[in-house]
Amino acid sequence: MVKAAMSDSLGDGAGRPTEAQIELYRRWAAGGAALSIIGEVQVDHRFPEKPGNLVLGPHADDGLLRRLAEAGPAHGSQIWPQLGHAGALAHGPISRPAGPSALAVDDLRCDALSRAEVGDLPATYARAAAHARAVGFGGVEIHAGHGFLLSQFLSPLFNHRTDRYGGPIEARCQLLLDVIRAVRSAVGAEFAVAVKINSSDQLQGGLSEDDALVAISLLGDASIDLIDISGGTYFPGAPASSDRRSTGPYFLDFAKRARAVTTTPLMVTGGFKTRREAIDAVVGRAADVVGLARAMVLDPDLPSTWLSPGGGDPRFPTFRSPPAGGITAWFTMRLTALAAGTEDDFDPTLDDAIAAYERRDAERVGSWQRAFDAGPDSRD
Ligand SMILES: Cc1cc2nc3c(=O)[nH]c(=O)nc-3n(C[C@H](O)[C@H](O)[C@H](O)COP(=O)(O)O)c2cc1C
Repeated sequence: MVKAAMSDSLGDGAGRPTEAQIELYRRWAAGGAALSIIGEVQVDHRFPEKPGNLVLGPHADDGLLRRLAEAGPAHGSQIWPQLGHAGALAHGPISRPAGPSALAVDDLRCDALSRAEVGDLPATYARAAAHARAVGFGGVEIHAGHGFLLSQFLSPLFNHRTDRYGGPIEARCQLLLDVIRAVRSAVGAEFAVAVKINSSDQLQGGLSEDDALVAISLLGDASIDLIDISGGTYFPGAPASSDRRSTGPYFLDFAKRARAVTTTPLMVTGGFKTRREAIDAVVGRAADVVGLARAMVLDPDLPSTWLSPGGGDPRFPTFRSPPAGGITAWFTMRLTALAAGTEDDFDPTLDDAIAAYERRDAERVGSWQRAFDAGPDSRD
């Protein structure tokens, strides 16, 4: 049982960990998670998902990163940062978003990364992975899902390139494969490297299941240790897994198809709510590892609970007609409460959760810019 990647927004607004964040990861480790993945740890401060993200790079505080990395092994658990780059979905107020191709769709406006910028990306990920290893993390997860940069390259909706990175799925996979190769050569054979990838974008014109299977078969030759299967994107108006209300687990049928094209161990993340579902996924050989996000926000001790004879499943709140992004905002704010140990008093409406989430991000724009000297033109 793995605590799946969640962008916890508990960084200090300048890309560095906080005491609250260290405490949150300590709680998950003490609660029995085999591994906790820190969501959206940025490889390049110019393209963050949110201003509460951590950044691996020259501005980092290695002392604090070391303490965060140590929060797992103290309880026999692992902590891995998820290497992120938001690309076209980078947070507007502190970025100039850029993806595989220039786009202007609804609220989404981005530039195209130049050939040279794309060519630099494998080294950027490799530097971040080496940094993660140097400060004591047990592995990294390369984020190639949910519509962020590497997922944008996989998706025909974002990727209209005509160079070696665009065209058929094999070419759209090229950057991800280059990144994996560079990361592996930077961290060596003994360090764990996972990839999170979409089963499909669940979006007309996006990555299809058939193409995702081709990508997964190519990953099989690419010296990675774990493939984490997810789906959906944060493309405007598209369904995101973290906001989904339907009964799960969501991606087991796809995982069974993936099993036929790869021998790499599979983690399946999305929609697990009960111990029965988790057991069935493993016994049925759809998953080697069960990824849990929201369930671990409701009960940080869930792995221990599920391993105890009495069991017990978390009680999921019922949200009627939630606004887009509301459920994700509610769970993000509950992470803040968990980190502070105040979760018993946590009961905001979705509107209040969204307002608190947006207010905090707005307050951090200035500190991010001061820390990184970033502005909308920082790519120039
Ligand atoms: C608050 C929150 C933040 C999330 N941030 C990330 C992230 O940074 N990276 C990622 O890969 N997935 C992220 N997710 C998605 C989860 O990893 C997971 O794929 C999704 O929530 C479905 O799993 P669940 O049903 O167990 O919650 C996030 C989910 C939530 C609820």
